[in-house]
Amino acid sequence: MSGSPWTPRALTPDDLPGLLAVQRACYGDGFVESAAVFARRLASPANCSLVLEHAGAVCAYLAAYRSVQGKVTPLHGDFEALAHTDTLYLHDMAVLPALSGQGVARALLQPLWAQAAAQGLQHTALVSVQGSEAYWARHGYAVQPLADAAQQARLASYGAGAVYMARRLGAGV
Ligand SMILES: CC(C)(COP(=O)(O)OP(=O)(O)OC[C@H]1O[C@@H](n2cnc3c(N)ncnc32)[C@H](O)[C@@H]1OP(=O)(O)O)[C@@H](O)C(=O)NCCC(=O)NCCS
Repeated sequence: MSGSPWTPRALTPDDLPGLLAVQRACYGDGFVESAAVFARRLASPANCSLVLEHAGAVCAYLAAYRSVQGKVTPLHGDFEALAHTDTLYLHDMAVLPALSGQGVARALLQPLWAQAAAQGLQHTALVSVQGSEAYWARHGYAVQPLADAAQQARLASYGAGAVYMARRLGAGV
């Protein structure tokens, strides 16, 4: 039987020390977010973040929540719960470098896309940083301009090179 050996589960507050270690391993100082902001995000009703463990420790995470098209979460920003949502927003995904290229990221993404589509969300979006634009393009995401000045300012919190990307969520996720 084929299938991924990686089985994600919901991210919990107990995972935060491990998440921070993965975050430090994957990002430069400019993108490091605090345990306090992740704890607030986990408490949001909109949160749907996942985590993966390997050898008893967090090895990867995908911080995500239900949002709306064209809305950017600024660096260090909260996962704001909205009355109406149409978009699975992927805020941050990181995989320990030692495990890269083994399908860990895909194992985090696929169940979240499927769950969001089943919940009726029609879009998925993210801010691409650290030269990850080609990675997300391979998953069908395309750069989209932001018309709203407030959202442009949020995007600017990630510095030069950050782009807002989105795609539709379909039956084939
Ligand atoms: C990007 C990242 C999440 C991918 O995780 P992963 O578990 O290695 O991904 P997968 O194994 O599912 O997929 C790997 C594939 O993506 C490709 N890939 C990885 N990073 C890429 C990039 N920056 N640009 C284009 N392709 C990329 C690999 O070459 C590989 O291709 P293959 O399937 O043809 O061999 C991981 O490298 C990471 O944590 N990077 C640092 C944090 C980061 O930049 N996150 C995204 C910010 S928005």
